[in-house]
Amino acid sequence: MGNTSCCQSEDLAVNETQPVDAKPLMISGGDAAVAGGLGLAGGDTEAERVYQVTLNKVDGQKLGLDVDYMAERKLLPIMHVTGGVAEEWNRRNPQKKMCSGDSILEVNGVKGDVVEMLEKCKADQILNMTLCRSLTYEFLLEDLEKLVRQKQCGPILIRLSWHDAGVYNGVDGCPNAAMRLSGSAEQQMAANAGLQVAIKLLAPISAKYVPRLISHADLWVVAANVAIKVMGGPVITTRYGRLDAQQASQSAPSGTGRLPDGDKDAHHLRTIFHPKGFDDKEIVALSGAHTVGACHLDRSGFQGAWTEQKLKFDNSYFKDLLSKSWTEETTSQGKSQFRCGETMMLHTDMALIKDPAFKWHVQQFAEDENLWFSEFGKAWVRLQELGLEDLRDIL
Ligand code: HEM
Repeated sequence: MGNTSCCQSEDLAVNETQPVDAKPLMISGGDAAVAGGLGLAGGDTEAERVYQVTLNKVDGQKLGLDVDYMAERKLLPIMHVTGGVAEEWNRRNPQKKMCSGDSILEVNGVKGDVVEMLEKCKADQILNMTLCRSLTYEFLLEDLEKLVRQKQCGPILIRLSWHDAGVYNGVDGCPNAAMRLSGSAEQQMAANAGLQVAIKLLAPISAKYVPRLISHADLWVVAANVAIKVMGGPVITTRYGRLDAQQASQSAPSGTGRLPDGDKDAHHLRTIFHPKGFDDKEIVALSGAHTVGACHLDRSGFQGAWTEQKLKFDNSYFKDLLSKSWTEETTSQGKSQFRCGETMMLHTDMALIKDPAFKWHVQQFAEDENLWFSEFGKAWVRLQELGLEDLRDIL
């Protein structure tokens, strides 16, 4: 779990993770626990994952727990059980065995403050602790990967992260997961239609990890990045420390001028993306994400997938834009788009080959997938961090 340096105490070994930045983590959760039957590490329900332990340090015995400490966290992940009363507990209570990767949530009534929890561990003789199974960053990545593979939901997770960050207009609207809050403008924006599906898909994972380990806003970012990797795309470095909106009023007020419309032209793309700090090359690189996923009649009014393999993150989108013959059509929802066989393009996608400056980049990315991965990766990380400073490299 991040970089560690060891500092030993009498009875508890504390591995101190050095924060890159000392910004407080998440504030509070919100999504109800939904048992998704995903097979989450440690169990799908709180009842399966959370357990109580009582340790009694009789005669000054050592605790025998090696924990990972970082002041900004709300929990203490167990790195190793190293003997002492902890090992004794494990021998006597095989059904409540403390394992590395489980996290301590509460010690003698103290939770959410790891400094005070550690003090309790050192000072108190009897420790009543609440723990949760398989609750570390590594397990989070594992659970997200399972979700993406089982539900084949990579594309909508990417769109969720893009729209959370994409409302930034150069002044306000940075990624803060406001879309999850009922009554928020972001939840009601037409451009965000369908994204509640993504939030529901993430609910079993947010019920386990938010706010204990991560904020909703950071979860949406790392979920998208796991999705990109699972579908064959570049490995994206995620940074952490986004704070969740707590009230609907913290939402961006409207999508107009912030999020793009699919039936518009190159000028519209520049009008939307320039204030966010993206140039022509970056607009084209980012648009390449349409190589995965599809449009849904009941969400946007557009219909169909852009490429033949909608769960494969490759440069087919650029190749198809250039090589296929596209015919304009109107969907049953009255939206104008382009079609070739089973695949489609929006007007904004076609704008990338109609505008000569955009088209030059489309050609580069169609010829060289690695170049696209590299340019996409850089622009995508900037998008996910719009309006934010002081993010950390570790969770
Ligand atoms: C350039 C302007 C853009 C426009 C006009 C646009 C528009 C749209 C529309 C209309 C949909 C269909 C929604 C639905 O019906 O479910 C969609 C889906 C999608 N968009 Fe974009 N988008 C743009 C840029 C981006 C960017 C920058 C990304 C990410 C880097 C992205 C990623 C996606 C993905 C992955 C989907 C598929 C979602 C799914 O399968 O459920 N889009 N977009």
